[in-house]
Amino acid sequence: MADVEIARSGAVLELTLNRPAKKNALTNAMYRTLTDALSEAARDEGIGVVLIAGAGGVFSAGNDIGDFIAALSGGEMAAADFIRAIAAFPKPIVAAVDGLAVGVGTTLLLHCDLVYATPAARFALPFVDLGLLPEAGSSLLLPRRAGMARASAWLLAGDSFSAEEAREAGLINAVVESDVLLGTAREKAAKLAAKPRAALLAARRFLRGDQAEILTRIDVELDAFRAALASPQAQAALAAFVNKSKQAG
Ligand code: COA
Repeated sequence: MADVEIARSGAVLELTLNRPAKKNALTNAMYRTLTDALSEAARDEGIGVVLIAGAGGVFSAGNDIGDFIAALSGGEMAAADFIRAIAAFPKPIVAAVDGLAVGVGTTLLLHCDLVYATPAARFALPFVDLGLLPEAGSSLLLPRRAGMARASAWLLAGDSFSAEEAREAGLINAVVESDVLLGTAREKAAKLAAKPRAALLAARRFLRGDQAEILTRIDVELDAFRAALASPQAQAALAAFVNKSKQAG
């Protein structure tokens, strides 16, 4: 099974994060697959909407920590291309979130248009605790979306939050039971895909605001993120996670 499954249903392209043994943590290879799928979906006139989901009762535990460590010694950070691609993606994105959504697993949702989550969904943005910084434009988009109080609690204090809190904050559209999560997301995606395309895309563009501003913030954040990744604090936090996993194994 591929770590990212790609399936097409009518005018909807479904991307399923499928690495459940590692809580769907995103590797460079997965980011590359996602980035390629998004750029193909942007070009393909037969695709109207993209749906993103996670397999195995988890959405994503965020960036693969091993790949973060490899990036320190010159390894690639394919996350950067993915983040730019999803932020610039011109068509609606629907997301279905079950279980954990950590780091980029939560920040990517800021670039989605309709998001559904189960009562078991749990969101966390532990960047600062890891010696890292908010990414994917979240330092700009989260305060706008959820207000400064919540953005500070989630991005600075590192408080995790529930699906209900995410709904109240306007980060997700609705909380739905897990047995109907995918069906709900698929139905919403198909309905969007059936709408007059030009009007839908133009309306979405207006709603999402100044894309250049968002892409600029993403690049500024990424520069700061790379520097933070090289800090002793981040290295210690990432090494601690890897060592904990090794000991548990
Ligand atoms: N990168 C790499 N591997 C990860 C991972 C990540 N981000 N998140 C989880 N995994 C792996 C674990 O190492 C473990 O692998 P193993 O079975 O080979 O030891 C497996 O996924 C299961 O994770 P585990 O920690 O045992 O599950 P849990 O339910 O106890 O905890 C999390 C789940 C997500 C809370 C915990 O794994 C975690 O904190 N992950 C890191 C999240 C993170 O900081 N992401 C980056 C944000 S910038």
